[in-house]
Amino acid sequence: MAILKIARMGHPVLSTPAAEVPDPTAPDVARLVDAMIATMEDADGTGLAAPQVHMPWRIVVYKVESERAAHEGAEDVSVPLTVMVNPLVTPVGEETNLGFEACLSVPGMAGAVRRFDRVQVTYQTLAGKAITLDAEGFHARVIQHECDHLDGILYPSRIEDMSQFGFVEELSKDQAPAEEADDG
Ligand code: NI
Repeated sequence: MAILKIARMGHPVLSTPAAEVPDPTAPDVARLVDAMIATMEDADGTGLAAPQVHMPWRIVVYKVESERAAHEGAEDVSVPLTVMVNPLVTPVGEETNLGFEACLSVPGMAGAVRRFDRVQVTYQTLAGKAITLDAEGFHARVIQHECDHLDGILYPSRIEDMSQFGFVEELSKDQAPAEEADDG
């Protein structure tokens, strides 16, 4: 399976809203998703959005490993490989939390981003089935990070305190241990 080139911050594809996928069951969509999964796994990322591989479509893939989720504290859950076509994220409640994120399109860096604790997301599967999913904690953070990519938003633009943004190797351990970052 081909490994795709990942766009880095500054490339226009990352700041442009992606288009709706007209037919999630199209063979081209399945091929793109296969390549996105291979690319995400090759880069050891938690998630990947299609614009990150220069394809401006509303598609995200992610997989939450249990050890990453456990670092967030409240829950110890893993989430199997999930493919979302045309996802729509809605916050549930007003509670938010601050957590460090990283991104394959912003290599080597991490920053503290405020996200909603809980979200509901509706999306289509590759079979064209409509799904509604409730997520919380780290899982909800991953979904919000990945779906931001579909609207042309990278996490650095959501950082409130720029002292909480920097190179992973420079940030002190109590700020952003590399293994806690979401390499989405
Ligand atoms: Ni990302």
